[in-house]
Amino acid sequence: MSILVTGGAGFIGSHTVVELQNAGYDVVVLDNLCNSSKKSLSRVEKITGKPVTFYEADIRDKEAIKRIFQKEAIDSCIHFAGLKAVGESVQKPLEYYENNISGTLNLLEVMRENNCKNMIFSSSATVYGDPAVIPITEECPKGTCTNPYGWTKSMLEQILMDLQKADPQWNIILLRYFNPIGAHKSGTIGENPNGIPNNLMPYITQVAVGKLSQLGVFGNDYDTPDGTGVRDYIHVVDLARGHVKALKKIEENAGLCIYNLGTGVGYSVLDIVKNFEEATGITIPYVIKPRRAGDIAACYSDASKAKKELGWEAEYGIKEMCEDSWRWQKNNPNGYDD
Ligand code: NAD
Ligand code: UFG
Repeated sequence: MSILVTGGAGFIGSHTVVELQNAGYDVVVLDNLCNSSKKSLSRVEKITGKPVTFYEADIRDKEAIKRIFQKEAIDSCIHFAGLKAVGESVQKPLEYYENNISGTLNLLEVMRENNCKNMIFSSSATVYGDPAVIPITEECPKGTCTNPYGWTKSMLEQILMDLQKADPQWNIILLRYFNPIGAHKSGTIGENPNGIPNNLMPYITQVAVGKLSQLGVFGNDYDTPDGTGVRDYIHVVDLARGHVKALKKIEENAGLCIYNLGTGVGYSVLDIVKNFEEATGITIPYVIKPRRAGDIAACYSDASKAKKELGWEAEYGIKEMCEDSWRWQKNNPNGYDD
């Protein structure tokens, strides 16, 4: 039996395929490569020494998903495929709802037709909106999202909860990621943003490698210790391992479960700059800019539920996150285009 990994050529997906193969699972990847490169999967194969079965397919194409289920014995699905650029989602809401929501509905229908009812879904801390209380536990009410991307995650969580309620044979785990950064220790797979990065760490590494001149820090007047935004950064390899633990939970008939995947520690933008400089010896010039629309002051997890119920906790600290992000960027200044 195989695990279907949608979006498996992407940043978190490729790292998760490594951890799944290392744990002995057979993996089938479905990806339309709209935000990734097939090269990530050949590098995964080099890391693990095992072949990855790959289908270039789109989750909006139901017939294509059906063909994969006809060919492969799929037991469970880890569903990463989706569009994720917050700003772009504001410009192109229909494309985001169609890709993320219609695509997921297609996938769920084909899974049901094939009696495959195990699903791990990539959700996000964004569903909490501006959190009422931090650290954020899973009991914290969902909030108002500030963009269509966030709403796709929030709505898909609801769809998946409704599905599991209607048919308790489904095992569904919603994983709410905090801020994934870092890269595999080999320095051969990592985050490969298109154009100028939106997210903090890829922006910093591109300044470090000389592709960008300086970092803009979005606001230093938040109610945080140094005034800059605080987030819960988590090493992508830790995040990937969280999925392997979630699969074990699925195998025990999980029903519906929701877990935060974070470290429980918050770092400000300036903390990240300082830690990156210490870890790499490279100075990151920055200027303070106005706040970015839609940003919140602080967001970090209470990660104790995943520890208690999945036996998972993050192992890597901020130093390794910075070192590993930098190794990937330094070895691959143009990502998979090198
Ligand atoms: P990514 O863009 O690197 O990976 C997503 C993959 O899905 C890409 O390879 C892309 O080509 C593929 N894809 C997109 N639409 C598709 C479609 N219609 N059919 C088939 N494949 C499609 O992003 P990532 O950072 O690896 O994120 C993975 C998942 O985790 C996403 O669902 C994302 O929303 C979620 N998430 C990411 C973060 C983050 O900060 N990176 C935080 C919270 C949640
Ligand atoms: N920041 C800067 N300058 C930059 C980029 C970011 O100062 O050039 C700041 C932001 O203002 C924020 C922090 O760095 O305070 C982190 O910003 P990111 O864009 O890296 O991450 P976000 O927390 O805004 O969002 C990320 C993902 C979302 C996801 C969310 C919660 O991009 O998809 O984490 O999981 F929903």
